[in-house]
Amino acid sequence: MAGSKHPQESRVEMTQLVLPAHTNAIGTIFGGQIMAWIDTAAAICSFRHSRKMCVTASMDALNFISPVKQGDIVILQANVNYTGRSSMEIGVKVTSENSITGEKKKTARAYLTFVALDDKGKPVEIAQILPQNEQEKTWYQEGKERRLKRP
Ligand SMILES: CC(C)(COP(=O)(O)OP(=O)(O)OC[C@H]1O[C@@H](n2cnc3c(N)ncnc32)[C@H](O)[C@@H]1OP(=O)(O)O)[C@@H](O)C(=O)NCCC(=O)NCCS
Repeated sequence: MAGSKHPQESRVEMTQLVLPAHTNAIGTIFGGQIMAWIDTAAAICSFRHSRKMCVTASMDALNFISPVKQGDIVILQANVNYTGRSSMEIGVKVTSENSITGEKKKTARAYLTFVALDDKGKPVEIAQILPQNEQEKTWYQEGKERRLKRP
């Protein structure tokens, strides 16, 4: 048995500044850059939860809700929503913050599945997630439902 852990033990908040190299000709960020940051935040979250090497198995549909501009701050918050035997669903919420006014906007939300691997690269059992508060219990239930719908 790999035991159990609370979501707070692996939660990640990652903050980035949108630089010229991250943007296109009209000064808004490349979607792929946000995807890379989402993957990184989720990967750190999976390592903290499992304390194993983990790989991205899938990312569900990703919708960009509002544009992010050069000079904005991007905040990525990652949380383990649900765990299987070796896999975990990680939800990442992306918010942009105007550096001057402080105005915050929802930018994207993504759900990723990471799989923990053993020394031979085979999926290995991980700690089960133990949701504690109402929000975590809701995320757990929703994660479980999404898992049942995935191919
Ligand atoms: C992810 C990977 C390790 C799964 O290996 P596998 O031999 O198919 O493993 P299994 O069939 O035993 O499944 C292991 C777990 O992964 C989950 N899984 C496998 N493929 C999945 C997918 N595409 N999406 C979501 N979960 C997936 C299974 O549901 C299972 O979960 P559980 O243990 O919690 O029940 C393997 O497909 C892989 O290495 N993929 C490449 C990962 C990678 O390189 N990612 C970086 C980007 S290319």
